[in-house]
Amino acid sequence: MALISSRISRAVNIEDLCELARRRLPRIVFNYIDGGAEAEWTLRENRRAFDAVTFRPSQAIAVPTCDLRTRVLGTDLSMPLLLAPVGYLRVMHPGGEIAAARAASKAGVGMILSTVSGHRLEDVKTASTGQVWYQLYLTGGRAAAENAMRRAIDVGYTVLVITIDSTVIGHRERESRDGMEQFLRGNLWSKIPFVSDILTHPRWLARFLLDGGLPDMPNIVTPERGVLRVRDAHTAMKRQAFSWSDMPWIRALWKGPIVIKGVLTAEDARRSLDHGAAAVVVSNHGGRQLDGVPASLQVLPEVVEEVKDRAEVLMDSGIRRGSDIVKAICLGARAVLCGRSYAYGLAAAGEPGVTRSIEMLRNDLERCLKLLGCPSVNALTRSYVSVAPHR
Ligand SMILES: Cc1cc2nc3c(=O)[nH]c(=O)nc-3n(C[C@H](O)[C@H](O)[C@H](O)COP(=O)(O)O)c2cc1C
Repeated sequence: MALISSRISRAVNIEDLCELARRRLPRIVFNYIDGGAEAEWTLRENRRAFDAVTFRPSQAIAVPTCDLRTRVLGTDLSMPLLLAPVGYLRVMHPGGEIAAARAASKAGVGMILSTVSGHRLEDVKTASTGQVWYQLYLTGGRAAAENAMRRAIDVGYTVLVITIDSTVIGHRERESRDGMEQFLRGNLWSKIPFVSDILTHPRWLARFLLDGGLPDMPNIVTPERGVLRVRDAHTAMKRQAFSWSDMPWIRALWKGPIVIKGVLTAEDARRSLDHGAAAVVVSNHGGRQLDGVPASLQVLPEVVEEVKDRAEVLMDSGIRRGSDIVKAICLGARAVLCGRSYAYGLAAAGEPGVTRSIEMLRNDLERCLKLLGCPSVNALTRSYVSVAPHR
């Protein structure tokens, strides 16, 4: 335990956490987190887009303290960061979504719980001392979605996030090569190819077995079939997905703010607002869905220009440093979501690993503002960056 915490505190950036996660997890689980769709072109573009933005600092301006606080859809945040919805966190570490929610609320950042969570949404809410948002897939159909929304409303989830980029699951070649689907669905025999990979990670295996093995999906419940079994999850996700025609039905049930996640064009931003969204997330799902779409950061200005002040604009995909957060805000985002950055931390060390990932992003963010000569995240403007023309 002491060894783990010293390794975590010696990690200096998210790449170090990624490396720790790579060592701690069986390859099949690590590649589930780390991989992208098809040739992983969009996954790489997400990072390249941040590299194409350079800073224009105001030098020699002392900024003794920086104000990192912001407010997103009525939720006060200690910095402009929310933990993105990430499915199957409990497979990475038994603490899973509960550990993430605890770390997020202690740090004063937002947390969005994925539909594909191994912990009950009620337990995740109880673990958090802050606000938690709920991300909706229509897996299991409207009956399952209604069950989840009613439960989420009952226990105080404030905001609903609908992911629109997943009409089918992206083809993640690293996952397919490793056999993720067989691992989740198959019987004992079909798991034999994974035995050597898994046995060489005894600490992960012991935790996984003590936690009861692969978790079912307690937030996907239908009257006929009850809780969705994990082995049926992939098929169920392929069968039913959100389409715009579901929006009036959802809005009749969910009276709080609705966020549309997965917007990449001005047209979809407009459509989201026409359907009553209070915010949009410019996102390509971290390069895990349609390979070949541009980096989120690249299309952020187009969406901001379309939305103007009619809704809030968030972004994700590729956030690995506090300076990335600064760049996204300069280009018009109100706040960002990170997915892998905290998932690596969780896999490396449970809740302390998530806390460490948030701390890294916060320290970077504050230092970056000071070096830019900017006292507050709310004072960041386009004039602090210049964007290289796209190749
Ligand atoms: C392992 C993994 C699982 C994910 N599961 C979900 C999910 O269940 N729902 C969802 O809306 N997005 C999901 N996402 C996408 C994230 O919410 C987010 O858009 C993405 O991770 C951002 O890119 P980043 O990982 O580079 O920060 C997942 C991402 C990862 C890496």
